[in-house]
Formats: sequence, structure tokens, C-alpha cells
Amino acid sequence: MTRIFFNEVVTRDGFQNEPAFVATDAKVALIDELSACGYAKIEVTSFTSAKAIPMLRDAEEVMGRIRRLPGVETTVLVPNVRGAERALESRADELNLVMSTSETHNLANLRMPREKSFAGLREVIEMAHRAGSGRVPVNVSLSCCFGCPMEGDVPEAEVMRWADRFAALDVRGLTICDTTGMAHPAQVRRLTRALQQRFGSLQLTLHFHNTRGMGLANVLASVDEGITRFDGSLGGLGGCPYAPGATGNICSEDAIHMLHAMGHDTGIDLPRLLAVARQLPSIVGHDVPGQVAKAGLITDLHPAPAYVAELRGQ
Ligand code: COA
Ligand code: ZN
Repeated sequence: MTRIFFNEVVTRDGFQNEPAFVATDAKVALIDELSACGYAKIEVTSFTSAKAIPMLRDAEEVMGRIRRLPGVETTVLVPNVRGAERALESRADELNLVMSTSETHNLANLRMPREKSFAGLREVIEMAHRAGSGRVPVNVSLSCCFGCPMEGDVPEAEVMRWADRFAALDVRGLTICDTTGMAHPAQVRRLTRALQQRFGSLQLTLHFHNTRGMGLANVLASVDEGITRFDGSLGGLGGCPYAPGATGNICSEDAIHMLHAMGHDTGIDLPRLLAVARQLPSIVGHDVPGQVAKAGLITDLHPAPAYVAELRGQ
């Protein structure tokens, strides 16, 4: 049995891609309920430009109003120095910096070349490490590590090159993102093996999207290689608005249900999480991809039809 740590990203990756703004009250209530389910970490929001990501324009208010539970870290997505100033002001427990390993996706998503992103993020890391309130840990999310929807293949060497550059800046962790669900399990095995060998001392998190139905297979391939940290999104919402064809993340409750069935421990109260997941369609106003919230646990049995009892009696 392995202890597996989940970072819940529905209010960031999930809500950034919703067609309608989710009210601040609903975001705060949802995060408070998720905090009580046993997550290791919650990615609450992003400190991005309101023009780029209008759905998360209430980031300060959300961070100011959520209940902080001991043991549940809050992290926030940060693309630049301005975002880091706002995130530090909001007392996030961790800054999750973002840039893409694909030049084209970086230009589409962050409107700058990768070198300019890196220079800004290096400055952010220095800011976080000498923050007035004490050192704030930094994680770096690298987008498109398994392929770019515009460029195609992203060579493993390119992923390792960016990971190396951030590791040299003393970050706490790296999140390896499959932004548009291009990863397959054999590729995941290769890359996670190489990453574990080179960055064994860092927290390595895998971030999968289920765009082509390979999400849970990729989680299993990663677990087999010793990965113990995953991003997941309630209901399977999610997607980068600036990555063509992006759809939802792996569904947290489906992934957690699978891992529990296999005997792993996530620290999450699954029945409680399912009760929260069942509220999600009414929060966003549409059906969501998650399956276990609809089907129930594998231990939730159904009564047999009456004729079965009759047949037994024959
Ligand atoms: N928070 C709030 N406002 C910000 C900001 C931040 N982190 N960064 C820039 N801005 C504001 C600037 O103050 C400026 O405002 P003004 O028009 O009122 O003067 C405006 O945004 C443009 O600033 P600029 O530095 O020219 O940014 P840009 O237009 O080149 O956009 C990013 C760059 C990175 C800010 C923007 O592309 C972004 O926020 N992207 C995030 C994408 C994302 O989150 N994708 C999904 C997750 S992978
Ligand atoms: Zn994502």
C-alpha cells in the first residue's frame, strides 16, 4: 500500500475553463468543503491577468475568505512577478509557477517566449524565498511535457532541460503536465523514470488531462514507477483556455476511488468527497464527466430484481 497525495485543482484548472463565472460565494463554500475531505493540497485559484482568465478575477477575495485548515496546503498558480506579489500578499502556502516546455504554447498562453517567462519566474523564486513572512515554497508546473497541441512532440530532453533549470533554483517541486491529454502509459513510464532518477529529491507531481481517455491509465503507470503525487479535478472539469482542444483533468474522485480499490491510501474521505462532487453540476450549471459520483462506489450494491428470489426458490 502506498500513500498517495492529491492536489485538488477544480477551482483553478476546472473553473478557469468554465463558460460562465462561478460566483465567489460558491467557490469559497466549495473549497471549504473540499478542505474537510482530507486533501494534501488545494490549488485555490490563479493570480493571472483578469483579461486572460476572467473566471478567476476574484482571486484575492477567494483567498481572503476560505477557511485554512492545518494540514491542507493552499497553492495558487502564478505566471509572472505581478502574480507573485498578489499571491504573497494573499498568504498562499505555496506558489505554483507556470510555463510551457513548448515555445508555441508558451506564446499562446502567457504571451511571451519561454526565456522571458523563465527570467520572470527566476525573479519570482527569489521573491518567494526571501518573503517577509518567511520562505514560501515554490512548485513549478511545466505545461505540454507529453506533447503540444500545436507543435506536436516535445522531446524528453527539452522537458529535462527546463526541469534542470528550475531545480538549480532550489524549487521544492515540479509538476509535469499533460496539458491536452496527449500522454500514453508507455511514454509516462519513460519520462517519470528519467525524472525520478534525476530529481529524486524534489516533490514530483503528475498532472494529467483525460482528453483521450488515457488519464487513469497514466496515473497507474506513474504509480508503478513510484510517483506519489497527483493533481486531480473534481468531476473531471478543467482545461487551459489557450491550448486548442483542451478538456478536463483526470477526475479526482474517480482516480481516488480506483486507488482505494487497489489498496492505496490517499487520506481522503471518499464518501464525503462524493457528496461534494454530486453538488458540482448545480454549481457549474451542467453535467460533468466524473463517473463514480453517478455510479456509486463498487461496494454500493443494488437489490436483485424480485424474480431472482423466485428463481432461487425453484
Ligand atoms: N495579475 C493581474 N494583472 C496582471 C498580471 C497578473 N499576474 N500580469 C499582468 N497583469 C495586467 C497588467 O497590469 C496589465 O494591465 P493593464 O492593461 O490594466 O495595464 C495587463 O495585465 C497586461 O499586462 P502584460 O504584462 O502586458 O501582460 P500580457 O497581456 O502580455 O499577458 C500574462 C501576460 C502572463 C499576464 C497573461 O497572459 C496571463 O495571465 N496568462 C495566464 C494564462 C493562464 O492562466 N492559463 C491557464 C493556466 S495554464
Ligand atoms: Zn491542466
